[in-house]
Amino acid sequence: MNLEGQERLKSDIIKLKKEKNAVIFAHYYTRPEIQDIADFIGDSLALAQQATRVHADILIMCGVHFMGETMKILCPEKKVLVPDMNAGCSLADSCKAEDLAAFKAQHPDHMVVSYVNTSADVKALTDVVVTSSNAKKIVDQLPADAKIIFGPDYNLGSYINSVTGRNMLLWNGACHVHSRFSLEALLQFKKENPGVEVLAHPECKAVILAQSDVIGSTKALLEHAIQSSAKRFIIATESGILHEMQKACPDKEFIPVPPEVTEGVGCSCNECEYMRMNTLEKVYACLRDEQPEMHVKKETAEKAISSIQRMLEMS
Ligand code: 13P
Ligand code: SF4
Repeated sequence: MNLEGQERLKSDIIKLKKEKNAVIFAHYYTRPEIQDIADFIGDSLALAQQATRVHADILIMCGVHFMGETMKILCPEKKVLVPDMNAGCSLADSCKAEDLAAFKAQHPDHMVVSYVNTSADVKALTDVVVTSSNAKKIVDQLPADAKIIFGPDYNLGSYINSVTGRNMLLWNGACHVHSRFSLEALLQFKKENPGVEVLAHPECKAVILAQSDVIGSTKALLEHAIQSSAKRFIIATESGILHEMQKACPDKEFIPVPPEVTEGVGCSCNECEYMRMNTLEKVYACLRDEQPEMHVKKETAEKAISSIQRMLEMS
């Protein structure tokens, strides 16, 4: 679509959203044009918190499936729409509820702390949900002698173990975007750009985190970029965040770390293809047709809400 068509579609969406008393939420990893039409842009925690505060008939979650589910669980009386039901998450997929249930049965004395990137069924088996923004704060509040299963992100779990001194039992899941950043490229960028700051999401591998100046959620990385006196940054997270960073800091330079290139299948991008499934055309259609609508089984939602609410209380 050309720029003119895009601008027309954006104004049609804005008009329709007012008529229908709808609010659009977008994660930082979505396409720039989606972030531009959103009422709220945020990380997983901020989006969930904001959803409980807005007064609207329709909530549109431009992100991935588990974000829409979390929103529906928190706001059961609202119509929650997602532009594309197929926008999944490789990390959430790495932990199936039946596998977690079997693992729990092998460790009956452990409590379960789950990253928000999980299905509602997994959240229903969880004691407390965390996001990358609040994982340390929440784990720090758990009893010192608590035995804990942490899943599904192995990299985030190891990082939280290292900063809390815990020894949580880690699920071996990963995000396909964050786990493939190239250490070699990062080291090369650092060598070529003295004085640069490296900002990384804790879903990255430990070798990447070890080379980073700041480790945090998308929101924490953005806030750091704004307040830092540095002028150049290397970014080890999904490249969608660069849109807000560049908008907030037009005089600073942001360099995305590329993924490792596997022979034959490597690509030169570091985008989450699920987040990119949110397009202006799909947002417009979903607002017009009021579908696809997110539904969560009542029984699952009733179990999952306590682990999400515990997170909101402990954040
Ligand atoms: P944030 O919680 O930092 O928004 O991250 C969500 C996510 O999907 C990271 O890949
Ligand atoms: Fe999931 Fe990774 Fe995409 Fe985040 S970037 S939504 S963890 S697949």
